[in-house]
Amino acid sequence: MYQEMARQTLLAGDASIRQRTTAYASRYERWEDLSSVRRRPRRNFPAPPDGSPPADLFFPPELYPVVLHPLVAAKGETVGKALLLCRLYDYLDFTVDLENHAVIPVAQKISRGRSGLILPEQMMADAYKIVTDEAWHGQFSYDFARQIAATTLIPRAAARDTGVPAFMQRLDDMRDQLPISVRGLEALLFAIVSETLISGILSDIPRDDRLPDSVRELVRDHAADEGRHHIYFRSVLEHLWPALTPEERRAIGPQVPAAVYAFLEPDYAQTFRHLLGIGLTEAQADQVIAESWPRETVRRGIAEAAAPVVRYFTNAGALDDARTLDSFERAGLIARQPIGAGATW
Ligand SMILES: [Fe+2]
Ligand SMILES: [Fe+2]
Repeated sequence: MYQEMARQTLLAGDASIRQRTTAYASRYERWEDLSSVRRRPRRNFPAPPDGSPPADLFFPPELYPVVLHPLVAAKGETVGKALLLCRLYDYLDFTVDLENHAVIPVAQKISRGRSGLILPEQMMADAYKIVTDEAWHGQFSYDFARQIAATTLIPRAAARDTGVPAFMQRLDDMRDQLPISVRGLEALLFAIVSETLISGILSDIPRDDRLPDSVRELVRDHAADEGRHHIYFRSVLEHLWPALTPEERRAIGPQVPAAVYAFLEPDYAQTFRHLLGIGLTEAQADQVIAESWPRETVRRGIAEAAAPVVRYFTNAGALDDARTLDSFERAGLIARQPIGAGATW
């Protein structure tokens, strides 16, 4: 089993007969000087001076609109604030799971030459740095959540009680859609997509001066590393797409929007649990979720955040396939083309 694990590639088949792309510009020469694991202090959540409350707001309500819903607002301000703290816990837990289950395994395979592609030596060497960055992001997110819980005395649910974040169920569904011959490729695809998307959290929280400084600094550290990862995974796509066979492209292309949604769509099930926790009935919780995240608003937000990803896949030629193009259109990631207009973006 261990030998098999070590040899297993993300992409099946003989890497040596796949088309190779040799161009690669490393952004990691200065990793020692720039990475948060090397250069940034551990961010601590300081205990407030005696008697004062720990913080007023832990998460931007605009990024968690259920707290603005009248049925939640009616529960009082304290409940709304506690829900925002739960949302911060969810984000920190999500980060741990994303790094450990989605990004590190892929970066680690790349680093050991087991992606299924033949990649430039420097690109494999850089993947080690990404493994280290992501392990640090997981660790500091976990530590920080524990510190907040100790200071606020508002417990975070134990991981064993909360289930797994929604993106993992969505990844399983995506994998089930794929022919057996290309299973494994979804891991590479999801790493590319999630690492090149700009989530509202990474971009907005560092600038939000209503939040505790330590929360903003922690997310800022993460965002700075992710800027480099973004460029790296964009180049993974530039190496991957030409190396795929037409059949592989036709199989995985239509799943790209599912990968985008897996990462960006709200975790409705987790929110449902929180809403029951504040005393709403199941019907009320459903209502709050449906009215706080109208389908069209969610689709628009996702399309906006996914614009760079759509551009990279378009440039790679992924949308030349009619089924892939159709799946991007159906997901609202691109405007539907008039019949006969062709792909002209
Ligand atoms: Fe990260
Ligand atoms: Fe990353």
